[in-house]
Amino acid sequence: MKTELVKITVNDGDDIFSKATELLKNNEVVGMPTETVYGLAGNAYSSVAVSKIFEAKGRPTDNPLIVHISEFNEIYELVKYVPDTAKKLAEAFWPGPLTMILPKSEKVPYCTTGNLDTVAVRCPSHPIARKLIKLSGLPLAAPSANLSGKPSPTKAEHVFEDLNGRIPYIIDGGDCEEGVESTVITLATETPRLLRPGNVTLGQLKAVLGKVEVDDAVLNPLKNNETAASPGMKYKHYSPDAQITLVKGEYKAFCEYINTCNSEGVYAMIFNDDDASKLSVPYIFYGSEDYKTLSHSLFDSLRILDKKGAKHCFVRYPDDENDDNLAVLNRLLRAAGFNVIKV
Ligand code: TXA
Ligand code: MG
Repeated sequence: MKTELVKITVNDGDDIFSKATELLKNNEVVGMPTETVYGLAGNAYSSVAVSKIFEAKGRPTDNPLIVHISEFNEIYELVKYVPDTAKKLAEAFWPGPLTMILPKSEKVPYCTTGNLDTVAVRCPSHPIARKLIKLSGLPLAAPSANLSGKPSPTKAEHVFEDLNGRIPYIIDGGDCEEGVESTVITLATETPRLLRPGNVTLGQLKAVLGKVEVDDAVLNPLKNNETAASPGMKYKHYSPDAQITLVKGEYKAFCEYINTCNSEGVYAMIFNDDDASKLSVPYIFYGSEDYKTLSHSLFDSLRILDKKGAKHCFVRYPDDENDDNLAVLNRLLRAAGFNVIKV
């Protein structure tokens, strides 16, 4: 299949969306930008479209998809009921990088929800994503548009790298602002529970809801026989080809340790403010030590390592006492297979 990659800006007229909306209405799939990461969109009501999404990504079919809407009111068609907690969260964070899980309506097919009775719903803020939903008149199921297991795509070229030849069309809407996927919270439990941290932070959620539980899988590997609250948590994730090791400690000790590991293919990934001249191995930066800049470049940095042919990369560990860093830490821990050393 030939993959078309088309640049579209917010100011382009509706007619430029006609190819993408036609494809979506015909149960084909389209790569689309969102404020978090690029998504691979398809009609959430169609088992044909949904199976194409799973196939293109090589994703296990028990890993449910997030359904994207353009306005809060569209949620009523997708879920059984809308609790006050959902209204409050939407008021505070929609459109934006927050996904809510609720019991699904009959209209949502089980193939979209990985056979679960719940559905994940998100109203993205990216104007191109919203326009695509509006113009196609469909709720769009969209996982991140990477090959399953690879780092999520934050640029259209990442989508092209992974899915060229596997999907018909990609909209290039520029780089994603947030860079990590949305925060996922379930409202289907007695107390709301954070399943995947994102840039709507735990502190912000607590400010709106009061009590919020944090699922064990956010910062820990699943134990044997444990069922994942969010099926995505059980799969290997965000992995570049290079082996990743997280290194926790002061920068001086970090450099001393890494410099002793110097051999071919060894890299360091450090904060923008770190003094790179202290390192004897090649390095890349991944943002200032603040969650917004770290999350913005994290996945691109992981992909750059592969382009450079890195075999093993030692990564500076973000401050884990600051809950705002949970999203970056969660992705890094998975990329590293929970391999952390203290220096
Ligand atoms: O920012 C994002 O959320 C991006 C953009 C494209 O919107 N999408 C995204 O989708 O990250 P995906 O499929 O890569 O991740 C969705 C996560 C998975 O870990 C999945 O297991 C979980 O959400 N999830 C989806 N539906 C669920 C449900 N009903 N119950 C529990 N977890 C669910
Ligand atoms: Mg994903």
